[in-house]
Amino acid sequence: SPTLAAAAAEAGITFGTSIAGDTLADPAQAALYRREAAIFTVDYALKFGHLRPTEDAFETADADAILAFAGSTPVRGHTLAWNESRPDWLMALSTAEKRKALDRHIDETAAYYAGRLHSWDVVNEPFWPGHGLPGGFRDGPWMEAFGEGYVERAFRRAGAADPHARLVLNEAMAERWDETGAAIRAGLLRLVDRLQDAGAPLDAVGLQGHLLPRYPHDDNGFADFLGELATRRVDIYITELDADDSTFPNDIPARDAAVAARYRDFLAAVLTVPAVKMVITWQLADSASWYEHAAREEDPDATRLPRPLPFDARFAPKPARDAMLGAFGRR
Ligand code: G3I
Repeated sequence: SPTLAAAAAEAGITFGTSIAGDTLADPAQAALYRREAAIFTVDYALKFGHLRPTEDAFETADADAILAFAGSTPVRGHTLAWNESRPDWLMALSTAEKRKALDRHIDETAAYYAGRLHSWDVVNEPFWPGHGLPGGFRDGPWMEAFGEGYVERAFRRAGAADPHARLVLNEAMAERWDETGAAIRAGLLRLVDRLQDAGAPLDAVGLQGHLLPRYPHDDNGFADFLGELATRRVDIYITELDADDSTFPNDIPARDAAVAARYRDFLAAVLTVPAVKMVITWQLADSASWYEHAAREEDPDATRLPRPLPFDARFAPKPARDAMLGAFGRR
């Protein structure tokens, strides 16, 4: 079979996966990721909390190792401004001190990696999970420091520090077809318009694509939303694709078939939109998935382990891999 990267390239799509240190440490996993991906997103090593465990630390070694591993394969930075990755030392600062620390983080981090990253998720999840703030913005240190203006501020400072990286606004749950998803989709359109009206540098919108079959979904409706987003002349990246299988049968062949069908139907709709340029899964092998980490944290003896990704724990392809090849082939 062709690799996912090769099949996607035929369809005008750059296919890739998120990657963390565990992959670099396991030759078989490294071989799978190298073979199948044409781009990598740094899963954890470029998050605020990892880079700056203390106020004076700047721990770039893990991300530098991923860049070295990637060689000529493009790498995406994830993520400069996120109200989630917030070490205690940051939260203990006064609002004025937070402003300085957050500005410094973007300036220093984007400068340090300037010219070496394909793109940055400059802002991650401005809305999700939403705390009912005006406009549905998520609260957190960035909102405390700058209000909703933190988004434009982050894009301007990242663009000034690294004129080469594409600058991406990344959001979760836009695929959910309920009031949460609807609020996030409306918020995204409003925010993109505001950024563009202000002349802020914005190259693409990342929609994570953590498919959650337990919630309503309308893949064609979502594709229509992507079409509307595309009228803003931004590229669209599916940035964290995987499929939660917790509501599917325990029987593995049936579960794998249901996961494959979710990938098939989602990609069939999304790939009808020309502005969609990238499809990136959130890890590539089930054993590396955040769903597995969560399951093992919940129950170290868990026997029903999640199977959300195109390859299994022994790096063998699953029906979802074939579903993805088919979707790329039909574009
Ligand atoms: O690396 C440390 C390790 O040294 C330490 O011993 C261990 C125990 O504390 O923690 C390890 O860091 C963990 C890290 O994943 C690497 O495995 C963090 O605790 C853990 O919180 C972190 O979880 C990540 C989560 O984002 C929060 O950053 C997940 O791996 C990652 O898959 C998840 O990814 C997010 C995206 O960034 C945004 N969209 C949603 C997506 C899924 O939640």
